[in-house]
Amino acid sequence: MRKYLIDGGGPLSGAATVAKAKNAVLPLLAASVMADGPVALRKCPPIADVVNMLGILNGLGCRVSHSPDFDIRVDASNAGGTELPADLARELRSSIFLLGPLLGRFKTARAAYPGGCDIGFRPIDLHLKGLRDLNVKITEGYGGIVCDGREMRGAETMLEVPSVGATENLMMAAALAPGRTVIRNAAKEPEIADLQRFLNAMGGRVAGAGSSTVKIEGVAKLNGAEFTPLPDRIEAGTLMLACALAGGRIVLNEVNCEHLFPLIAKLREGGVGVVCGEGSLTVEAAGRPSACVGMETQPYPGFPTDLQAPFLSLQAASDGVCVIRENLFETRFKHVPELIKMGADITVRDRTAIVRGVKSLRGAQVAARELRGGAALAIAAIAAKGTSVVEGVRHIERGYYKFEEKLRALGAKIDVLGN
Ligand code: UD1
Repeated sequence: MRKYLIDGGGPLSGAATVAKAKNAVLPLLAASVMADGPVALRKCPPIADVVNMLGILNGLGCRVSHSPDFDIRVDASNAGGTELPADLARELRSSIFLLGPLLGRFKTARAAYPGGCDIGFRPIDLHLKGLRDLNVKITEGYGGIVCDGREMRGAETMLEVPSVGATENLMMAAALAPGRTVIRNAAKEPEIADLQRFLNAMGGRVAGAGSSTVKIEGVAKLNGAEFTPLPDRIEAGTLMLACALAGGRIVLNEVNCEHLFPLIAKLREGGVGVVCGEGSLTVEAAGRPSACVGMETQPYPGFPTDLQAPFLSLQAASDGVCVIRENLFETRFKHVPELIKMGADITVRDRTAIVRGVKSLRGAQVAARELRGGAALAIAAIAAKGTSVVEGVRHIERGYYKFEEKLRALGAKIDVLGN
């Protein structure tokens, strides 16, 4: 059981390079199953979710490798499996993305219901409705889904809410479905535009990703490709919030400021300096934020739900009272009782957190219960006075590669205990 031991209170300084986006790499890996030749994805560190996804691809008969310099290779030329291994799929919600690619390539797919972060009831009805619109016959039961895509074809489909995963799943299924597909009310996250770039690099014909209408002309086959995924805006945002909370000045390299704008606007509102450069950004903060800044999570380009927890850590130690509302997931305030152990004054009612900023947080023994909430506790501990132990580091490691090393390079006093 790995734990962080954190001696908090000091300012951060230095530079870090932002990793490639977990939420881009996972759908790109799923899409690799459709390629009739080798795929190379550059600079993808082996975070646990990626390793699990590679395990699933391996189980489907793909040849996979992950080099020490983080290049992933997937060769699906001889893949043939159409059933997702239930144990790995339950660990990883993103395994649901494989339904689209398997249907595209093999016209059939079977899966257990997916797992993933425990942040609320996460249905897959939108994925299944979209696939049914593409004329896929779906049978549900016994904890799993059986999809028959022998008569799959392009169609118009409309998402009731702009789900990231459903948009990506449908884009991938449609890439190899005969005819034209139009996805309306599509999610607009940058990772979806990245998937479009990758599908087109493989010979696909996809347009409109990043807007609410995505159009796909099905092609007969997709080829291998080399691709470097976009930077991880959530890792970048977490590090920016760490600096805003602990104070200091840090530079982040290989980052896209445009994708971070919802956070940058809120940081500036709270008196934190953010300067965007060419592929880099600088954060400068005096220490305690000058004002508690309220926020509600929204689909992109609104404030990302994945930064709600670390943003809440910052507001917990600000000056004033503010309200934070989580609109996307039902139970995404699991880090709040732990922040309260660190001296925070927060009341949660349903999907709303009322934050009364305290002068400073204090070190405590706390437990991460899910990925982003865990990162929120780590950055709170870095800013807090005294020593903290953060348990449940395995949750954080699903999405941040050697988070402790990145934070240590920025001056945080953090060690890992256990294995
Ligand atoms: C993706 C991200 C996740 C992020 C989330 C929202 C990946 C690998 N994960 O998750 O980090 O927090 O987007 O930005 O990219 N919904 C339904 N039915 C469905 C699907 C979704 O009702 O079939 C609802 C969800 O409960 C949620 C909302 O739609 O309220 C958005 O979820 P969605 O965009 O699908 O999130 P994920 O793709 O799972």
